[in-house]
Amino acid sequence: MRIAVTGSIATDHLMAFPGRFVDQLLPDQLEHVSLSFLVDTLQVRRGGVAANIAFGLGGLLLEPVLVGAVGPDFAEYEVWLKEHGVDTGSVYVSCEHQTARFMCMTDQDSNQIAAFYAGAMAEAGRIDLRGVHDRTPLDLVLVSPNDPGAMVRHTEQARELGIPFAADPSQQLARLTGAEVRSLVTGARWLFTNEYESALLRERAGWSHAEVLDRVGTWVTTLGAQGVRIDRKGEPALTVPAVPDVHAEDPTGVGDAFRSGFLAAVSWGLAMETAAQLGCAMSALVLATVGSQAYEIRPERLLATVRAVYGGRAAGLLAAKLGRPA
Ligand SMILES: Nc1ncnc2c1ncn2[C@@H]1O[C@H](COP(=O)(O)OP(=O)(O)OP(=O)(O)O)[C@@H](O)[C@H]1O
Ligand SMILES: [Mg+2]
Repeated sequence: MRIAVTGSIATDHLMAFPGRFVDQLLPDQLEHVSLSFLVDTLQVRRGGVAANIAFGLGGLLLEPVLVGAVGPDFAEYEVWLKEHGVDTGSVYVSCEHQTARFMCMTDQDSNQIAAFYAGAMAEAGRIDLRGVHDRTPLDLVLVSPNDPGAMVRHTEQARELGIPFAADPSQQLARLTGAEVRSLVTGARWLFTNEYESALLRERAGWSHAEVLDRVGTWVTTLGAQGVRIDRKGEPALTVPAVPDVHAEDPTGVGDAFRSGFLAAVSWGLAMETAAQLGCAMSALVLATVGSQAYEIRPERLLATVRAVYGGRAAGLLAAKLGRPA
């Protein structure tokens, strides 16, 4: 099954300032601030929701097609993604703007000064899914956080082309209008949110829980350390616990890794419960590493986690698929 993962592609530039911002900011000079902070460390981490999800799917040998807009600076990141099994042939390269970038400086008190540059992401709406589908026929289009216009366009094009789609509006819900949210969700085979986003989505769309379920195939809500709940119209909710006692290093990208594991397993034809179990095991892997693409997928380790937490049957079902090309 060929999955197109649409959404943001970005890097995080994280700097540590060894002093305190408050010691530098002079209250009577705030009208003309001109400061330069000498920072100790700079860490560049690869991210962006679509790139994170594609990285996970690539590691599970699904050969996902990454769809998003980047700048001319993407070359190194592209090599990394290709090395991890991601098809980057449909990434749009802007001549004018750099790849989206989050720049954040943290001081000794954990105060932060940050900036997010959307850059090339603003051009993602120019991408034509028809061209992607012609190049490599798609079985599912995942619409993850991106330029709002691009999210709406990708969803509309998936409908026109008759390709099933999954709605993953997550952090962009705050920026989407009610009409946009309703358009992204209506007819989705899968809807992904976390618990907070589930409430925000209902509020934005002006729909009750049941009204959302009327419009989607399956609604998958991740519940942090509580695991995940899966709702379908007319059926009792299915819950799957998270992997317990994970040594949490950095939660960035846990939701994205869940989506990689879940979608990989459903694409292998496995039941949703097994899919959610693989999703939780993938999330646990990311949680235990710093960064959202710093983990390594080793089938035997993933299977050991699944076996320990969810039992031998789940591990057996996944063993037949993990580590083999889709
Ligand atoms: N403390 C934890 N221990 C074990 N697993 C966790 C923990 N927190 C999250 N997870 C796993 O990650 C999945 C996704 O978590 P969560 O609901 O927090 O996603 P999210 O809010 O979208 O995260 P983000 O947007 O930061 O990636 C959960 O379903 C669970 O399997
Ligand atoms: Mg999330």
